[in-house]
Amino acid sequence: MTAFSATASGKIILFGEHAVVYGQPAIAVPVNIVQARAVVTAAPRSPAGAVHLMAPDVGLDTLLADLPADDPLVLAITLTASQLNIPRLPAMEIRLTSTIPVAAGFGSSAATSIALIRALAAFIGQRLSQAVVSDLAYQVECRHHGNPSGIDNTVITYGRPVYFVRGQPFEPLEPAQPLTLVIGDSGVQSSTGAVVADVRRLHEAQNEQTQAAFQSMGELARQARTLIQAGQVDELGRLMNRNHALLRSLTISSPELDRLVDAALAAGALGAKLSGGGRGGNMIALVTEPSAGAVEKALRSAGAVRTWVTTVNAKCKG
Ligand code: PMV
Repeated sequence: MTAFSATASGKIILFGEHAVVYGQPAIAVPVNIVQARAVVTAAPRSPAGAVHLMAPDVGLDTLLADLPADDPLVLAITLTASQLNIPRLPAMEIRLTSTIPVAAGFGSSAATSIALIRALAAFIGQRLSQAVVSDLAYQVECRHHGNPSGIDNTVITYGRPVYFVRGQPFEPLEPAQPLTLVIGDSGVQSSTGAVVADVRRLHEAQNEQTQAAFQSMGELARQARTLIQAGQVDELGRLMNRNHALLRSLTISSPELDRLVDAALAAGALGAKLSGGGRGGNMIALVTEPSAGAVEKALRSAGAVRTWVTTVNAKCKG
């Protein structure tokens, strides 16, 4: 039986999480060392419309019809079927696996949707443009998370560093020098939707201060874009530290994340900050390649449950 499979990588946010929800620019990069995968195969012995979903990592083994209508997997499948003009899906089995930690700031929900949308379209025998894949994943995120900026679905669909402003076409970002990042997972799961909702309440209660912090974060993202394009990596680290301080001032950090950020800096990182929704999940440290091992070790001693080293490649010169 032919299997149609597709993958989507994780992502991290280098600058501007939360501020991006309020129209400020942000920078995100894909992380290919963690991936979501969807594999779709026909199930000719099952009746038309019977979609069997399996996600062994999370103990899911069910018929699509038995899941609630607002489940993100149901949404991804029904929105894709409607985009492909398929009123009744052929019987199929969908197997989802992922090495992306959930609720950790890696964009795992968007990556799962994107792998699923792509594999389903391949199974049906139609091609979807990147823009349509990204938009379908955005629609799933909207119903799932409330008020997403669209940065996760964009960076994961296009699989390249992006400078992103909500509601505008993204700008691909090409680093002049490779960026080596150490990612540390605090091990604390945190719901991005809940933190975004808290930040909204803060924004309502303390509008001027919150707005000023967002504007400063936007300014950092603009400066970071220039530094990344110019290959000025040391200065970029300092901007990350300032971004973390601003996120802290808005209560988006946590003692665990602060401890990891401090440990990374003490071990020689050029800069460090939380990444993603905050209050848990990941932090990132920008490092020189030789110091990556020492920073990883320091993060683990300071409580990181997992660490990864990833490199954002420089543009090809030629
Ligand atoms: O927690 P993550 O990796 O999904 O990142 C969320 C980023 C936010 O700016 C907090 C929300 C958004 O929609 O941009």
